[in-house]
This record gives sequence, structure tokens and C-alpha cells, in this order.
Amino acid sequence: MKYEEALKKVTEYGQEHVLQFFAELSGDEKETLLGQIEQTDFSVLAKASQGDKEHNRGVITPIPAMKLSEIEGKKELYTEKGIEMIRAGKVGAVLLAGGMGTRLGSDNPKGMYNIGLTKEVYIFERIIRNLLDVVELTGCYVHLFIMTSEKNHEKTVAFLKEKKFFGYDENYVTFFLQDMAPASDYSGKVYMETKGLMSASPNGNGGWFSSMKRGGVLDIVHKAGIEWLNIFAVDNVLQRIADPCFVGATAINNCAVGAKVIRKAAPDEKVGVMCLEDGRPSIVEYYELTEELMNAKDASGEPAYNYGVILNYLFRVNDLEEIVSKEMPLHIVEKKIPYLSEAGETVKPETPNGYKYESLVLDMIHMLDSCLVFEVVREKEFAPIKNATGVDSVESARELLKLNGVEL
Ligand code: UTP
Repeated sequence: MKYEEALKKVTEYGQEHVLQFFAELSGDEKETLLGQIEQTDFSVLAKASQGDKEHNRGVITPIPAMKLSEIEGKKELYTEKGIEMIRAGKVGAVLLAGGMGTRLGSDNPKGMYNIGLTKEVYIFERIIRNLLDVVELTGCYVHLFIMTSEKNHEKTVAFLKEKKFFGYDENYVTFFLQDMAPASDYSGKVYMETKGLMSASPNGNGGWFSSMKRGGVLDIVHKAGIEWLNIFAVDNVLQRIADPCFVGATAINNCAVGAKVIRKAAPDEKVGVMCLEDGRPSIVEYYELTEELMNAKDASGEPAYNYGVILNYLFRVNDLEEIVSKEMPLHIVEKKIPYLSEAGETVKPETPNGYKYESLVLDMIHMLDSCLVFEVVREKEFAPIKNATGVDSVESARELLKLNGVEL
């Protein structure tokens, strides 16, 4: 993009200040800033005036879950179907690794974290190992798409190449970049991180499919004949990916999406729960769960909102393509955003100073008609690493890995 075009674009959104230091920049820096302006969707900033209050929710009612006992009875049928679909190349996997992992506090991408005790065991390694179980079972590779962000792309690619993809066939791995969203002060004015760079962050985990489309990766999906995409978070080291039983169950029950869920450990556990919202599948975040919903019981006397999501969803590609052009709700989140001070230095604030703009995968689910809520055994499939210590940490994940016979 040329300077004049960039100026026109930023002026349209009242963000001319981003070009304030342009004349001082080197040739490369100028190019980077013009490129960033070209890529940036400034329209989101108009939402700053709404603040970070949550969207109004519809009427929440319980959604039936397919429980472990029911799955057990149909396990063979589902697994056979899933294996058949994987062998036909109809299933791809999408690793969401675009997050910043701020809570873990490592400078490297989260997947590069070594959780081993007596040897090196990386988060990426555990995830790929789990996927290799499916490769061994079916005799076929599942195409693995890895979403990174501008902030961690180079390190992630270099690391996985150096580790030879932990034994995964490189021909079945495709990286793609998540789109970025600008970060602003409370009035919607974009912060500058340096004189030649706007403050920006990945646009939330709901940005994965539109980023895939924009990056041209959807063409690979089509060419390969992939009909289903299993998305999953980088930080659950017990994550079972392209699990044939789950794949088969979602397809046989003709659902647009399948969601792996765990029975909650306590009514106030900090996981989002599956529900219906105005009759459509949806998720209530833990901080939105009222006392009334927390204590509600179903016909059999069990908690009515008892199934927590673990960011492992199987989406039908056709249905995703129908919703991708629709506008997704934008979540405005108050965050600490590094910015350029008057003195021309980058400041890392101690307290929140503005907004980031994110879309969330849970909103994609709400846009779809049907969802299979599929229970899994939490001790076998849920070991998230969000923090260094305490709840959902490296420590708790190590214990769970050991329970599952993984040497660390
Ligand atoms: P989290 O919501 O835990 O966010 O991501 P995070 O950025 O990894 O960690 P914190 O909150 O800064 O500590 C859940 C999953 O979604 C991915 C993450 O990589 C993780 O696998 N994610 C999140 C993205 O891929 N892109 C995003 O913009 C946000």
C-alpha cells in the first residue's frame, strides 16, 4: 500500500496519528507500517464506545448431552464410522496456537514449553504424539493445520522444523497466520507500540476460520476433500484429536458441530458450559453463570448446566462456509497494552489501559443449528496448562500426564 492510500484509510477512521512519525522511519520500517495499515480492520474500533460489557444474552435453557454410558453402548459403531472418514481423508485438525499465553509467562510460544522433569517433553510434542495415535490406528495421516500469529509464527515454525515435527509427516502440516486486530485506548484511538508499529494482537480464537479463508488455506482443505475440521487448543496436553469415536458420533448424529465436554468438578468450576440460547446451541462462560443457572437441576436431579467445554470442536466445513461471511459478535476486552509514551519510549503498563477486540469460537457455535455435546472422561482428556503453578498449571498437568502413564 502506498503512503497516500494509507493516509486516506486511517483518516477515514480518525486514526491519522498512526502516521505521525512516518518521516522519521527507515525504508523497511515504512514498509512494515504501510503493510500493517493495509492489513488492519479499523472498523472494530468504533465499538470502543460500547466498553467491555458483555453482550445481552438470549434465554438460556439446558442442552442434552451424550453421556459416557450412551457413548459406550455405541462405541464400536461410532469408531468404525470415524475410522472410515479419516481413511477417506475427510477429517483435518486445526491447532489454535495463535494465543499470547500471557498467564504462563514464557516469552516463547506456549507449545515450546518444556514440561518434562527428567527429560525434555514439550507441549507441542504431547499434542502431536496424541495425534500420532490416530495415525497409527488408521494407517493414515490427518492433515494438521497450525494457526500461529505474527507474534509467534517464526519461532513456532523454526522450533517444529528443528524437532522434525516430533515424527509427524511434514507433508501433512500447513501453517497459517491468524489475523490481527488493533488495540486502542478507551476512546478507540489505536495505540502505537513504536513509532513504526501499531499495537495489535491476534483477533481471538474465533478468528481461525476467516483467517484460514483469507490466507488461502481453505483451498487446500477443498483440494484434499476435507469435510470436517477438528479445532483444538494448544494448552491441553491430554487432548485427543481426530478421535474416531467423536468424529463418527458427530457425523452419524448429523450435527453441524461436535463439542467435547467434561462433567464439571464443582458447580463453580471456571469452565464455560454448553447450553441452548434462544433454542440454539451456545455456551455460557463461567463468569456469566448466575446462581440460578448454577443450581438448576434437570429431570433426573443432576445439575442442568454440568458439561464444560474444553476447546475441542469438530466443525462441518460446509456449515462454516455458510456462516463465515456473517458478522460475528465482537468481544471488547480490557487489557494492558504496551504503548509509545510522549517521550517516544515503549511503556508496558502495570494496569489495564485500553481495549483489545476479539471474536470467540463460542459465537460460531451459536451461529450453527445443531451441536453434539459429547462427554469425555476428564482425567483422560483434560489437562490444560494456563498458569505456571496452581489450578490448570504445569504442575497439575504433570500429575495428570503421570496418571495416564506419560513419562516426564
Ligand atoms: P486462551 O484463551 O487460553 O488464551 O487460548 P492465550 O492467549 O493462549 O493465553 P492467555 O489468556 O494470554 O494466558 C485458548 C486457545 O486459543 C488459542 C490459544 O493459543 C489457545 O490454544 N488462541 C487464543 C488463538 O489461537 N488465538 C487467539 O487470538 C487467542
